[in-house]
Amino acid sequence: MTTGQTLRLGVNIDHVATVRNARGGASPDPLRAAKLAEAAGADGITAHLREDRRHISDADIEGLAAALTVPLNFEMAATDEMQAIALRHRPHAVCLVPEKREERTTEGGLDVLREEARLGRFIAPLREAGCRVSIFIAADRPQIEAAQRIGAQVIELHTGAYCDAHAEGRLAERDAELAGLRDMAAFGHGLGLEIHAGHGLTYDTVGPIAALPEIRELNIGHFLIGEAIFRGLDPAIREMRRLMDAARGAV
Ligand code: PXP
Repeated sequence: MTTGQTLRLGVNIDHVATVRNARGGASPDPLRAAKLAEAAGADGITAHLREDRRHISDADIEGLAAALTVPLNFEMAATDEMQAIALRHRPHAVCLVPEKREERTTEGGLDVLREEARLGRFIAPLREAGCRVSIFIAADRPQIEAAQRIGAQVIELHTGAYCDAHAEGRLAERDAELAGLRDMAAFGHGLGLEIHAGHGLTYDTVGPIAALPEIRELNIGHFLIGEAIFRGLDPAIREMRRLMDAARGAV
């Protein structure tokens, strides 16, 4: 395997749906945002269908699956209901995430070690259906080894702790988190896994993550949708792309 390849940007549109659902109507439309993101250079669109449907709806997934020209990364919990939906749509990618009803956002990585056998059985039909299976995971060696054992093709490293430490000025912790992400990106890549990363990334935090040569894709949502309020979605995405490319040494 090679490193230093282009870095893909997956734009997560969940929070367009959050704003829509605040009023219960049809606007703003996540599909319109997704098409705009495509035009702005997104390499993929990510959407998380939560069990409680707090943002993305089943109809949104149907619309995205039908209308996107870039790959859809379908984020979901490892439940029978979500597996059936994924098998119906056969998205390019499925990313398994932990889900707790009471959480505000996806707080940690999936504990693959704790339910290794079940998750192995769970992802087999998804892989057979042609979906690239990714596991959202902490930068933790035993968890990464378990993800590889169960047959995941991709791990997405959780960057939330790194971003939180940066935002709160805990710089020694931020640097320790970054070092862990760096080591585990290299470790996972060495196991033959494709490495992605995401959660909480901003213009201020994306550079050091984008610079890690083993990382092939970043999934970014909340910050971009917020930034779109001020500068529009297209320029918000283009600026993220520019910063990623600059950190990667691609420009
Ligand atoms: N990757 C995964 C697996 C996620 O669950 C999320 C948040 O839903 C993201 C990336 C994007 O995080 P953010 O919205 O904080 O950019």
